[in-house]
Amino acid sequence: MLLQKEVKRITVPLIRRMKEQGEPIAMLTAYDALMAEILDHSGIDIILVGDSGGMVMAGHENTLSVTMDEMLHYVKAVRKGVNRALLVADMPFLSYQVSVEDAVRNAGRFVQEGGAEAVKIEGGKVVLPVIEKLVDIGIPVMGHLGLTPQSIHLFGGYGVQGKEAEVAEKLKEEARLLEKAGVFSIVLEKIPALLAKEITASLTIPTIGIGAGKYCDGQVLVSHDMLGLYEKFKPKFVRRYAELGKTMLEAFINYVQDVKKRKFPDDHESY
Ligand code: KIV
Repeated sequence: MLLQKEVKRITVPLIRRMKEQGEPIAMLTAYDALMAEILDHSGIDIILVGDSGGMVMAGHENTLSVTMDEMLHYVKAVRKGVNRALLVADMPFLSYQVSVEDAVRNAGRFVQEGGAEAVKIEGGKVVLPVIEKLVDIGIPVMGHLGLTPQSIHLFGGYGVQGKEAEVAEKLKEEARLLEKAGVFSIVLEKIPALLAKEITASLTIPTIGIGAGKYCDGQVLVSHDMLGLYEKFKPKFVRRYAELGKTMLEAFINYVQDVKKRKFPDDHESY
């Protein structure tokens, strides 16, 4: 249990070794320094600055609107709070799809300006040249297959992917191609548990599931979802470990009432 417990810093080779040694990988998201620091103290292996930040931080309707500059702002802040976990930056929509050159420049900014140690890229065959180039120049890449939220308009929503045999075969093949292109791990989002099991068994690199069942090598959730902070939608795969939204609302209501009734501040809180 917890083979990496004594490790001062989680690295990409260590993440790969965790699969070999059967150690489950725990990953969560962060977008600011304070949350990142608390998360880093929890023993988390990977902190992802997800493009989900566009939704839970900036209030966008989906992940398509968040820009490279907004993401870089989150990555820089998170870097300040992280000393131990591996820091992965999510490449936002249009930061890697236009050209390999664009992808190198933007991934390079995450590493050079933001202090990220790896980047995450959504997609299969179409992103292989980008993955190969980034790995070639020394930037570790995490893949992302299944329900890739940057393609929701193509999917027509947030439904489970890979239920049909043809799509399942395509996902299995793309996972193998991603491994061959050099990714150090793959996020599998919202696919049937048995398909994720098959993909996981076919790869030497770890899979990290979100709504992909218990057979993946690791698990990831959006922190704001598991903390009960983001109320707009609650997929079945989210387990809530706290109800911070309710706790915060209660605290805010109590503060407002205290101010209105002149109960705050009291003499001990005054000079
Ligand atoms: O943006 C994000 O937070 C993600 C995770 C859900 C994997 O991509």
